[in-house]
Amino acid sequence: MKCIRSELIGWGHYLPPKVLTNDDLSKMVDTNDEWISTRTGIKSRHISEGETTAQMSVKAAQMALKRAGLEASDIDLIVLGTLTSDNTTPSSAAKIAGILGMRSGTPAFDVGAACSGFVYALTTADNMIRLNQVKSALVIGAETLSKITDWTDRNTCVLFGDGAGAVVLRACEGNGTSDDRGILSTKLYADGSKYDRLYTSGGVSTTAHAGYIFMDGKEVFKSAVGCLSEAAEYVMNDAGVSESDVDWLLPHQANIRIIEGVGHKLGIAPEKVIVTVDHHGNTSAASIPLALSESLESGKIKKGQLVVLSAMGAGFTWAGALIRI
Ligand code: UT7
Repeated sequence: MKCIRSELIGWGHYLPPKVLTNDDLSKMVDTNDEWISTRTGIKSRHISEGETTAQMSVKAAQMALKRAGLEASDIDLIVLGTLTSDNTTPSSAAKIAGILGMRSGTPAFDVGAACSGFVYALTTADNMIRLNQVKSALVIGAETLSKITDWTDRNTCVLFGDGAGAVVLRACEGNGTSDDRGILSTKLYADGSKYDRLYTSGGVSTTAHAGYIFMDGKEVFKSAVGCLSEAAEYVMNDAGVSESDVDWLLPHQANIRIIEGVGHKLGIAPEKVIVTVDHHGNTSAASIPLALSESLESGKIKKGQLVVLSAMGAGFTWAGALIRI
């Protein structure tokens, strides 16, 4: 049956130039490359030196618009997944829209779902496209986690990085089968009873300051493999495809052991799992669009291929999306 699909027609990413290696970190806190590499798979991460979430988003968005062959004024919607907005209000999406020169009246808003923020934003945009409320959307995931990292806490400061990734979606006609191009299925989840397992030590209505990231690492680790697998499994089943049909699994990039655990649980071979955590670290809502754009740009992910996105983070939130590129 004919249906509207959201086709991915552009992608972009931006990483701030400063690279912080594990050896650099070993001069700041009591840690070493061996511990960080074996426990997390992270070797280096990019750290913003003054560039804000919105400024990095603009660079990723400009690349995505260029790849799509569109102007900002052609876009009907902008949604940003982030937990590190430039200001408490207005949304960074509105700021980005202004800088890019999007049309006055174009809806713009941020989505707060931590590391699941990009997949939440993508799902929102996809639903609005399929409801025929908009014909195109710019969806971004961007973070300056370095601003809410306690650089004296070795438990967390070795994990995070900064960056931005973006995609452009456009309405297209599908046949309602898994051969269609575009977003084939999405699924969102949350469990608020785990609110205090991964959080910042402050916020606007509590301390009036952003605070620093705290995490019960072991508890998050245990839940992450199950949540990421559940979301991926749901969208594959929903679209009627099996793991052998999937070309790429692109899970949230938090820890190589979690990523490998998810691939193993789903029965997807390691060579079909996208890994960027080694050089990006955990960039929360930016992690999936950064890895997606990098892999599309390098030609690793090709047109027509089936990609499963799967995210998990604070809340807890988790989410999946299946896309044929
Ligand atoms: O983005 C949302 C999702 N986030 C995640 O998925 C993160 C999930 N959690 C993890 O990735 C892991 O739990 C961590 C990487 C955070 C920690 O790994 P772990 O294997 O669970 O280590 P641990 O917390 O059990 O710590 C083991 C030891 C401790 O020492 P003792 O108590 O055994 O003497 C820590 O104090 O490692 C110590 N440690 C460190 N040592 C050197 C903790 N951090 C460091 C460090 N360098 N940076």
